[in-house]
Amino acid sequence: MGRLLEVKDLRTQFKTDDGIVKAVDGVSFYIDEQEIVGVVGESGCGKSVTQLSVMQLINRPGKIVGGDVIFEGKNLLEYEQHGPEMRSIRGGKIAMIFQEPMTSLNPVLTLNQQISEMLMLHLKMSKEEARKRAIELLGLVGIPSPEERVDDYPHQFSGGMRQRVMIAMGMSCNPKILIADEPTTALDVTTQAQLLELMKSMVEQFKSSLIIVTHNLGVVARYAQRIYIMYAGKIVEEGRCKDIFKNPRHPYTVGLLNSVPRLDVEGERLIPIEGLPPNLTQMPPTCAFLPRCPYATEQCRTQPMPEMRSVEGEGHRIRCYVDIAEVDNVTVK
Ligand SMILES: Nc1ncnc2c1ncn2[C@@H]1O[C@H](COP(=O)(O)OP(=O)(O)OP(=O)(O)O)[C@@H](O)[C@H]1O
Ligand SMILES: [Mg+2]
Repeated sequence: MGRLLEVKDLRTQFKTDDGIVKAVDGVSFYIDEQEIVGVVGESGCGKSVTQLSVMQLINRPGKIVGGDVIFEGKNLLEYEQHGPEMRSIRGGKIAMIFQEPMTSLNPVLTLNQQISEMLMLHLKMSKEEARKRAIELLGLVGIPSPEERVDDYPHQFSGGMRQRVMIAMGMSCNPKILIADEPTTALDVTTQAQLLELMKSMVEQFKSSLIIVTHNLGVVARYAQRIYIMYAGKIVEEGRCKDIFKNPRHPYTVGLLNSVPRLDVEGERLIPIEGLPPNLTQMPPTCAFLPRCPYATEQCRTQPMPEMRSVEGEGHRIRCYVDIAEVDNVTVK
């Protein structure tokens, strides 16, 4: 199965009164057909802006200033933001769901109206076909009596059911890629896991790929095949899920592993990462994680931000001079 999406050296910036925010600063990643990948990092590290850039959903004061977004062999950044190509890709071939249901669902339209609209637009279905398909989709995501509920409005559903509705909408046009972007306001870990479970089973049935965007590294563990760790607008570690969990190599990844709840560990002690991410308008020339890094060396303090380099493990790479594997006395849960 081939490469479906490849993002190369993506750069997206926002012009603000305080200066230029380099929200996405040279991000490269890919996803293959029928693959599940996780994009993980603390709030404000550029996860959402990266995915919104893929969809060309960046508006002023934001701007994509560089990079390539190759999807099915074509560079999406060569298409007009509001042109017909991007319109057919958004919601059609690439669907993005924000797990904040009220931002994705239109409160004044019934589910049938919202789902049918997409099916008629992207798949050119008739009104009758679209309604039938909308009912099927609601059934697939576990909404009881979908043939009755299809004419309800979003507010008539409980929070959990609304999230299922969003997944149905996201999958409605049989997208090649579903991008699921979690809110910062954490859902409880169990609800999060149930929704991920549902998304996983949906993308498997539809033979789609899934990008899970989250601040919780623990939650993606059992779903993603590969993981990208982001910090301050850059990827700092990437690799197979099993390597990242068994053998994290970047100090930030170790911090994330120690600071988030896991599904498989009860009553664990969470150790937050000390300090705050840097101000993205005033990035130091050195490693952005340096001020918070317990393992920094003289090299880290004097050399520029390191480039990504390969370490042991297929596709395992880090942006770090140190490499945790070579440091003694590191606590990794
Ligand atoms: N419209 C905007 N104007 C100015 N800055 C913005 C805008 N949107 C995003 N940013 C900045 O871009 C950076 C990356 O934001 P982004 O939303 O991608 O973070 P995130 O990793 O998704 O965080 P979260 O986990 O909180 O969703 C942040 O510093 C944010 O303040
Ligand atoms: Mg976000």
